[in-house]
Amino acid sequence: MENTTGNHVLISTEEISRRVKELGQEISQDYQDKEPLLVCVLKGAVVFLADLLREITVPVNIDFMAVSSYGKSTITSGQVRILKDLDTSIENRHVLLVEDIVDTGLTLSYLCDLLLARDPASLRVCTLLDKSSRRRVKVPLDYVGFEVPNVFLVGYGLDYRERYRELPYIGRLEVEPEEPVAD
Ligand code: IMP
Ligand code: MG
Repeated sequence: MENTTGNHVLISTEEISRRVKELGQEISQDYQDKEPLLVCVLKGAVVFLADLLREITVPVNIDFMAVSSYGKSTITSGQVRILKDLDTSIENRHVLLVEDIVDTGLTLSYLCDLLLARDPASLRVCTLLDKSSRRRVKVPLDYVGFEVPNVFLVGYGLDYRERYRELPYIGRLEVEPEEPVAD
């Protein structure tokens, strides 16, 4: 299906909302009596977090981190820069890291190491999208919305050069990016 931007719809609004509801139920079950801290990785995961949050029926707290994954290059270097750190301490907290997409896994792997060093009671990862064919480092994913093919995706928070985040579905960018893609 083509839409007004010319991006091909890969996952529809309805499919996303159904799956987010399921993830919310699963998380609510797993975190009974725990009051987890959901850590959202800006900016891409913000739309997912906002929807997921409202499908969770146990009390939760939220906090945000911003990282720059690749510096100025699309070539993944594994170098992650923290642009914004958490406001709260995670010591003895049950932390659930919320990501938009796991691609090479380098960003997530770095973040997990960083957070684990702060002694949380537990650390789990919830990602909406898993582009597993591109994985370069092994990272355990506890909750996955959708497995996706190796194409560049936009919408529902994901951007191409800061555009398309507002699309209510996940689409495939009609032209593969040639320019640097920053987070
Ligand atoms: P990784 O470190 O290679 O796993 O990539 C992590 C980050 O790259 C994600 O959190 C996204 O912000 C970005 N990214 C990877 N693939 C895509 C995509 O298809 N569309 C938009 N952003 C992407
Ligand atoms: Mg991201």
